[in-house]
Amino acid sequence: MPIQYHKSTQTFHLYNEYFSYIIKVMKNQQLGQLYYGKRINDHENFDHLCEMKARPMAACAIEGDLTFSLEHLKQEYPSYGSGDMRHPAIDILQENGSHIVHFIYQSHEIIMGKPSLKNLPATYVEDNQEATTLLVTLYDEVIETKIILSYTIYENLSVLTRNAYIENCGTQKLVLNQAMSMSIDLPDMEYEMIELTGAWSRERSIRNRKLEHGIQSIYSLRGCSSNNFNPFIALKRENCNEYDGEVLGFSLVYSGNFLAQVEVDTYHVSRVTMGIHPHAFTWPLNQGESFQTPEVVMVYSCHGLNAMSQTYHKLYQKRLARGRYRDQVRPILVNNWEGTYFDFNEDKLVNIAKTAQKLGIELFVLDDGWYGQRQSDNAGLGDWYPNLEKLPNGISGLSQKIIDLGMNFGIWFEPEMVNKDSDLYRTHPEWTFETPNRHTSHGRNQYVLDFSNPEVVDYIYGLMAKVIQESHITYIKWDMNRCMSEVYSSVHNAQDQGKVMHEYILGVYHLYDMLTANFPEILFESCASGGARFDPGMLYYAPQCWTSDDTDAIERLKIQYGTSMVYPISSMGAHVSAIPNHQVFRNTPLKTRADVAYFGTFGYELDLCKLSSDEQQQILEQVQFMKKYREVIQFGTFYRLKSPFEGNETVWMVVSQDQNTAIVGYYRPLQEVNQGYRRVQLMGLDPNKKYHVSIHNIDCYGDELMNVGLMTSDSSCGENKDGEGDYLSRLYILQV
Ligand code: DGJ
Repeated sequence: MPIQYHKSTQTFHLYNEYFSYIIKVMKNQQLGQLYYGKRINDHENFDHLCEMKARPMAACAIEGDLTFSLEHLKQEYPSYGSGDMRHPAIDILQENGSHIVHFIYQSHEIIMGKPSLKNLPATYVEDNQEATTLLVTLYDEVIETKIILSYTIYENLSVLTRNAYIENCGTQKLVLNQAMSMSIDLPDMEYEMIELTGAWSRERSIRNRKLEHGIQSIYSLRGCSSNNFNPFIALKRENCNEYDGEVLGFSLVYSGNFLAQVEVDTYHVSRVTMGIHPHAFTWPLNQGESFQTPEVVMVYSCHGLNAMSQTYHKLYQKRLARGRYRDQVRPILVNNWEGTYFDFNEDKLVNIAKTAQKLGIELFVLDDGWYGQRQSDNAGLGDWYPNLEKLPNGISGLSQKIIDLGMNFGIWFEPEMVNKDSDLYRTHPEWTFETPNRHTSHGRNQYVLDFSNPEVVDYIYGLMAKVIQESHITYIKWDMNRCMSEVYSSVHNAQDQGKVMHEYILGVYHLYDMLTANFPEILFESCASGGARFDPGMLYYAPQCWTSDDTDAIERLKIQYGTSMVYPISSMGAHVSAIPNHQVFRNTPLKTRADVAYFGTFGYELDLCKLSSDEQQQILEQVQFMKKYREVIQFGTFYRLKSPFEGNETVWMVVSQDQNTAIVGYYRPLQEVNQGYRRVQLMGLDPNKKYHVSIHNIDCYGDELMNVGLMTSDSSCGENKDGEGDYLSRLYILQV
């Protein structure tokens, strides 16, 4: 049993072969945190870890006891106001104006498996033996309210998931001002915080900062998880690198506003809290009402960052993503966006598809511009019926032509948005977020539909379902191209406006639920101006996500490298696009563009008809290559070897489950001159298997490749070799 309860000390020890997590009911009956780290032996009494000393100035909770102060005790789900001076996990406003709460242990339950979360995405089990869950009920008798803290430990993964459920069992009218998914107090501050940060087209750069006293946090108040900060942080020890050392990962399964915060007090205790951002969130909790927080997935690794990432990859690939595509290699697609933008008609699209079909591409995706009066980004959003001037045979006719070519057909929607110049807005202006008597900001000329209103969600579902039912659609790209502003819902009263942003996200999830349940044959790819909603919440519905609007191969090295910190290769949309690149105007070789895009859900995003026959031949070969190796790339074990954030070389690799095949991606953006010889130590190979190494055309044992390394030296200094120069890439195929 991976969860032990020691009755005499009221201690819970959650452990598997990788880590231990120990909490206990403290002297005042609140829940205390004792340990989270490498697995340790279990025993009855860990009370000595509950360090207490009388400290001047402290507010003490127990009469006659100068040592028991919540300011100094490490806790699991703290509140402010009874001695703890740090930021809380929960804040409840009561009828008398007080925020003071006292949640004490009431009962607990240990169950096999993992309960699902109502209306929210979460990791799951397929068999109850895969995980065990501890449910601890805390109760505040003054406000007759309970909190159920839920902890699930996976049997064979270094994963602990947490969430909180709050229910008003009394008669008071309460208001939840803050309800974080988790909080943990760690006994020291000797960590660096890793975050994935950026902006549109440069998402998820890896950034490290040493913890300092006070607060360090990342967050989103944009209504989506955002291109700016991903809902993930890790705390790593200073000596932790990709291969060795201790790191704790925290990842929030949510797609809206969030806060991930580490507060270090002046006694060097680090409090990590994560959940829905409390700003602009208020949730009235009347008699009998409840609130469920999203889930946080915590991963422990004492073998460095690669091991942490691989744990997230396994879990998110197999126990977060769902549906028939979860375990399937992903279709190689061509998307017309960068090829045509809004300037297309049926003939143009069919011609691209015909060329694609000849090159072995499997799926044609029609992007933005096919509906309503959409000639530019000024009009049409919300009118999800085909523009018959551009597509006289509608989507059904076009999709039939694509199917007749022997390809599959996919289509783009942006369900949450509306243009003022649309039939939808003209009929239902009240369905848009608009604050009374205030100006409403637009983003890309568009406005946000009120998805907290179920009527709006149902209406959009109806339009989408009709298009799907009338056509042959096997793939949908669901886009979302602006942040939210002037959020106010006309169907909510004044007291409920603080619920709107969360209810909006629940509306998005509900639409996804209806679509994925009723059209299980469709592969969904989420997208939000590229990677503004690349988060675990989305992965539950859409097993792949458009990683970034930046399709330049060199920029993509950083974007895909950073994204791999949490998300599997099978989730990263990656396409070969035209040169000069449309975002950075760079000219990179077609080979390099493909060598980068292979490490994702591969495709093309250009007008294939404009390519020379040589280029088309190269693409034919690339498609054949990807078909041969996509199983290994998308479902193998991924390793980061050299970081694009640290130098001129990037190296990553994947190894097949049976360790018989590995592919090393080597990228060197700028040609250097007269450099020394270079080697990269590989990872994950079988030390005793002999691999044939392509390019070098030699045979070596795995132990040599992992300890001596793979030679990656460049020729420079006069010996002008074919293919070398700027933007070089090489793929080494290792085969037993
Ligand atoms: C933003 C997406 O990221 C692009 O790929 C494309 O679909 C455009 N929107 C279309 O408007």
